[in-house]
Amino acid sequence: MADKKARLTVDGLEEVIELPVYTGTTGPDVVDVRALTSKGLFTYDPGFVSTAACESSITYIDGAKGVLLHGGYPIEQLAENSDYLEVCFLLLNGELPTPEQKEVFVKTVKNHTMVHEQMTHFFNGFRRDAHPMAIMVAVVGALSAFYHDSLDIDDAHHREVCAFRLIAKMPTIAAMCYKYSIGQPFQYPRNELDYADNFLQMMFGNPCEDYVTNPVLAKAMDRIFLLHADHEQNASTSTVRLAGSSGANPFACIASGIAALWGPAHGGANEAVLTMLQEIGDESNIDEFIQRAKDPEDSFRLMGFGHRVYRNFDPRAKVMKQTCDEVLAELGIENDPFLKIAKRLEQIALEDDYFIQRKLYPNVDFYSGIILKAIGIPTNMFTVIFALSRTIGWISHWSEFHSGPNKIGRPRQLYTGPTKRDYEKK
Ligand code: CMC
Repeated sequence: MADKKARLTVDGLEEVIELPVYTGTTGPDVVDVRALTSKGLFTYDPGFVSTAACESSITYIDGAKGVLLHGGYPIEQLAENSDYLEVCFLLLNGELPTPEQKEVFVKTVKNHTMVHEQMTHFFNGFRRDAHPMAIMVAVVGALSAFYHDSLDIDDAHHREVCAFRLIAKMPTIAAMCYKYSIGQPFQYPRNELDYADNFLQMMFGNPCEDYVTNPVLAKAMDRIFLLHADHEQNASTSTVRLAGSSGANPFACIASGIAALWGPAHGGANEAVLTMLQEIGDESNIDEFIQRAKDPEDSFRLMGFGHRVYRNFDPRAKVMKQTCDEVLAELGIENDPFLKIAKRLEQIALEDDYFIQRKLYPNVDFYSGIILKAIGIPTNMFTVIFALSRTIGWISHWSEFHSGPNKIGRPRQLYTGPTKRDYEKK
């Protein structure tokens, strides 16, 4: 597969170093730099801007063109014609399911929706006002203490069982985080319902009254899950792969992904967008916030704008915007103040030289918060919902990592600290 070569000359080294260049099915070629260590050299790439850390066949992004493909299928087509569990099957298996395969898959997920009853006691250890991400990261890590029967990471069937458990239990855990925070009893999963319906039922139902889901909102919820399902080697997925590379427990690896996702530069941005829209408060204040975002002395950034890979519209943001309009129309929210500010902000930013030159476009998080808020989901649950949705991406990449030859992840460094010195008491 190395049909090309790169040649590297380094001052002080006589030989020209030849490095193999690999071509994938699409996307940029990659230079294999592994031989450099034996020449006394490392590569330097903080933030992994130009580094392919692995080979993968799950998801492809062309950031310049705003393209996102899962198993080769464009995200817009999946959002229009498919559903979240079908995309889960695709990410895990590389192909869309036949109707029979889909039926078995959905049924198997449903078999795993409950969590061990003992887990409910964990929640009591948290303050009621704890951030639900803090609870989720702990409870998902704690799954490692409960599910011991399928933990042979070299066994494909065991890896599949882990994936089913995670896909099925994440909505249950997410809803439990919410119920705990508002002092209501946990709502058990209802397996006769679809995935998104069931989640909404666990969030908003209570033992006193049946919860009847609105199909438009359930569809919007499913679409939010689908649009967040995977995004190749982002910070949280790379974290899961790296944690998994040591052979760690899969549930603990997913907890590490949740921790990485939490930050406002990554999955925490959906919560940060709503907080920002609240702070802006009125269209008349937008200019001030745009000026702050452009000021190099001010750390403020326009949340929901910019992306490491996309230098064009995030294709997920386009679908999200359309879903946002559908949800607000269904709920009769014609003049949502946040939507008005968001639309105006988007328009101003897209016409501003600062954002044009840096190719900063709205990303997936820009509109998702407005939809979630309209559905009735509190702001501090937004990133929890991202984590629920992204779990399939994390576990698919974890499984891919373990299904072939692999190595523990161990980056190197450019050391700039003191050189060797003898100990002297201060
Ligand atoms: N507002 C204002 N300026 C920005 C923004 C923004 N949102 N994003 C980037 N810039 C500027 C940045 O200051 C820099 O300017 P200069 O060249 O003058 O120093 C330039 O654009 C390049 O930024 P960078 O930090 O080098 O870009 P990055 O690829 O390292 O960061 C990012 C990507 C997503 C962390 C960043 O765009 C950001 O902080 N955006 C806001 C947070 C956000 O919405 N995150 C969600 C990402 S999508 C969901 C997900 O995948 O989790």
